[in-house]
Amino acid sequence: MQRIVLAYSGGLDTSVAIPWLAERYDAEIIAVTLDLGQGRELTNVRERALAVGAIRAHVVDVREEFARDYILPALRAGAIYEHRYPLATALGRPLIAKHLVRIAEMEGAVAIAHGCTGKGNDQVRLDVSARALNPAIKVIAPARVWGMTRPDEIEYARARNIPVPATIESPYSTDANLWGRSIECGVLEDPWAEPPEDVYTLTRAPADCPDLPAYVEIEFEAGVPVGINGVAMPLVELVASLETIAGAHGVGRIDMVENRLVGIKSREVYEAPAAVVLHLAHRELEGLVIPRDLERLKFELGRVYADLVYNGLWFAPTREAIDAFVDKVQGRVTGTVRLKLFKGDCRVVGRRSAHALYEHALATYDAGDAFDHSAAEGFIKIWGLPVETSARKKPAAQLQTLGVHA
Ligand code: ARG
Repeated sequence: MQRIVLAYSGGLDTSVAIPWLAERYDAEIIAVTLDLGQGRELTNVRERALAVGAIRAHVVDVREEFARDYILPALRAGAIYEHRYPLATALGRPLIAKHLVRIAEMEGAVAIAHGCTGKGNDQVRLDVSARALNPAIKVIAPARVWGMTRPDEIEYARARNIPVPATIESPYSTDANLWGRSIECGVLEDPWAEPPEDVYTLTRAPADCPDLPAYVEIEFEAGVPVGINGVAMPLVELVASLETIAGAHGVGRIDMVENRLVGIKSREVYEAPAAVVLHLAHRELEGLVIPRDLERLKFELGRVYADLVYNGLWFAPTREAIDAFVDKVQGRVTGTVRLKLFKGDCRVVGRRSAHALYEHALATYDAGDAFDHSAAEGFIKIWGLPVETSARKKPAAQLQTLGVHA
């Protein structure tokens, strides 16, 4: 009998997909669930997969790989989609595809399957990534094919005596991992409606936050966050700790309308406390140690990088080339950033580095000023020359000297 490897979340769609795929393709279904740091959602997931008919269920902890090979490059590149979204879901998908392909090869499966609909970005990310890694393996997306509504799915499950996951009570569609959480659907589909407090699980409402701010010092080495408040930590732990601290101070809520690759605008709510703090701190440190032109070039490439990740092109040579560029720049990004977290707000209040290009003697207005003030005059004369020249030759002025009135 042929085998299909299914990315299994434990939710309704992928639970129904198990019997659906088995019936439709006369196949054995192998469930794969990856731990990317989604926490609670993983409880009993193996048992749930087997209960709905999977012949085997793999649960693999990939948090370290996710942090090192996906989160970190995105952080160092400054990859933030449309100025706001730190790309938690988008970064997880190529890693999920990688392990689906790996397990499919190991299990001798003909296809991999996932629960994405035909309307989102995730299907693109998974399909393109899988194709890049092994074009011989077919990709099946049942929800793109079966045409069932949620009530249809519940009916389908009941008719087959399949336990319906309890999670269906939630009016929202969510996705979570170490780098953040996304919330869609329900009342959020009205872009004018303020997100109800119950959409948030990682961040406290600013009004309920502590009345005293928290100070966090993040140490970086070559663009890698390596410690918080003097305590060295591996990346997974560091991100998780920051999520706890920043979340408790209400930091990391994002409410935006974003452009999906498939051409629609959608209202998205995110919680990404660690990502928001780390991106802010990292960019601040770069500002201290990277020369102006390079800083701007890197910023532009960060936008390109974010688009690549968002649009499912993780396994493209362009991304690898930008990684090499970013890596070259990160050599000097070593130092510490001090941030203040207070009632939903996160701001930088201090930065220092052995590689700082900030020089007190050049910047100061006090005694010890080493800046050559007299050189400024000649510099400005030549700097402003083209502006002065074109101002003198403005068309309106020409018309006047010719005696023509507009
Ligand atoms: N809009 C975000 C993105 O495209 C979040 C997607 C959420 N995905 C999900 N399966 N709930 O990355």
